[in-house]
Amino acid sequence: MTGKRTDTRLVHGGRRREWRGRIVNPPVHRASTILFDSVAELRSATGGLGSHYYGLHGTETHWALMEALTELEPGAAGTLLYSSGLAAVTAALMAVLQGGDELLMLDSVYGPTRRFCDGLLKRYGVTTVYYDPLIGEGIAGLMNERTRAVFMESPGSLTMEVQDVPAICAAAKARGIVTLLDNTWATPLFFPALAAGVDLTILAGTKYVGGHADLLLGSVTATPDTYKKLERASWDLGHGVSPDDAWLASRGLRTMAVRLRQHQENALKVAHWLRDQPQVAAVLHPALSDCPGHALWTRDFTGASGLFSFGLRGGGDAERTRFIERLELFGLGYSWGGYESLVVPVDPASIRTATSWRADGPLVRLHIGLEDPDDLIEDLARALAGYGERA
Ligand SMILES: Cc1ncc(COP(=O)(O)O)c(C=O)c1O
Repeated sequence: MTGKRTDTRLVHGGRRREWRGRIVNPPVHRASTILFDSVAELRSATGGLGSHYYGLHGTETHWALMEALTELEPGAAGTLLYSSGLAAVTAALMAVLQGGDELLMLDSVYGPTRRFCDGLLKRYGVTTVYYDPLIGEGIAGLMNERTRAVFMESPGSLTMEVQDVPAICAAAKARGIVTLLDNTWATPLFFPALAAGVDLTILAGTKYVGGHADLLLGSVTATPDTYKKLERASWDLGHGVSPDDAWLASRGLRTMAVRLRQHQENALKVAHWLRDQPQVAAVLHPALSDCPGHALWTRDFTGASGLFSFGLRGGGDAERTRFIERLELFGLGYSWGGYESLVVPVDPASIRTATSWRADGPLVRLHIGLEDPDDLIEDLARALAGYGERA
């Protein structure tokens, strides 16, 4: 599929005739044991794409997804699959770090990634230094001889700061430091990460790849320089994905472009409407000028997905809770990227260590789904009515 446009690669990627026969979608091949015809054949198996070895390392069902994801990042050596987005993040970090190393981690990172760094990684002797997500090329000032890796998430999934990924990658590359990006928000469709200089790009496929709130899956796509290390670590850690989940992810992937375009359109409509409401202090949507790093989004991204946050004007947790619980069309729950709209309260102030979070009211994160955005706006308007007025 090289040379073809993204939408075409999404539809045809990984659908090799030898993996799917006459069937459109590569079927679910379940396996632990793989049987070989000879000792020589057993000994030559690699477990890579097209080479059965052991069920844990994949069958045609997995290869189709791995190849399709790899084709979305030109120049990538390959993709590995994990049982969740978090498992993909932790495997990628373990693949490139060892005791004594220092890791540079953005301060606005997804909470469980932070917990992994402050817990397990620390126990294994890796020091995590948090940095301002808006640091840009200033990241060079934090690098020293122990710095082994820089982790980015752009935009940050709670407060939506857009990072200068190319500048951070250039500073890292000049010093032989590995770069990792959690690209779940943009996906390769809106931000091709390897082209921006990233070494290991991570997707929580749970979100937009799956797209239907019924799948947990992660992936890491790597450059030729880092792929073997990633594979070694992932095999040593015993990572594997059920073929049913790989199949479901492949199915989701085929329609990801159209879904993302609709998430984008709906979310922009809601975000612009929210910006004009007197109860709203700021809308943190990368495509809107209130959002930190908005200019970088304009420069580097080709689109925006459905996740963003907004700050309420005044009020506290009780007022925010009342607002959230008045919503009828927004589900209250974790994760995002499905066809349905979701809402969660977010409280970044107590999590930050390198930067401080100040706002004149509480923060709310929305995922805008595929409902009619006018219905979502009516729902928000009803729930916002009277916000902040004391009972
Ligand atoms: C930015 C980001 N990365 C990674 C993850 C982890 O994905 P999973 O839920 O599949 O573990 C999430 C989940 O919410 C996320 O928001």
